[in-house]
Amino acid sequence: METTPYEMLGGETGVRRLAEAFYDAMVELPEAADLRALHNEDLSGIKRKLFEYLSGWLGGPMIYFEKYGGVCIRSVHARFPIGAAERDQWLLCMREAMRRVNAPPQVAALLDLPFARMAEAMRNRA
Ligand code: HEM
Repeated sequence: METTPYEMLGGETGVRRLAEAFYDAMVELPEAADLRALHNEDLSGIKRKLFEYLSGWLGGPMIYFEKYGGVCIRSVHARFPIGAAERDQWLLCMREAMRRVNAPPQVAALLDLPFARMAEAMRNRA
């Protein structure tokens, strides 16, 4: 059976750590200030939701879809002004999170383009 990115990242614990590291990077990296400004003060809810979403997206349990149904993630983002700057800051934070959780280089390389495509798909302005 092909190993999924979910398993390569360490399953539930690993993906939870990745979501945590993503928002830690968003808070700590001065270059991610615009992205931070779009989010609530309290990040506990979004940390959980990103974990739930990535769990299924990475080939693990489809927690987000089981809980919230077939929500269109692009529509959820339509209420936020997402331009090239916010897209690039999201990717910067995800690459930093991958580095912080010591993701195996082959899974970081494998996911870089799919994450870039997802981030571009959320963009709703120049
Ligand atoms: C491209 C730049 C992106 C920006 C600026 C952005 C920004 C945001 C913001 C402001 C929220 C609401 C946070 C809150 O409720 O406190 C959100 C929710 C969310 N984002 Fe993003 N996001 C981006 C890309 C992505 C990508 C690529 C993914 C998935 C791979 C993603 C997954 C999610 C999820 C799962 C939620 C929760 C949605 C819900 O409320 O059910 N986002 N995002």
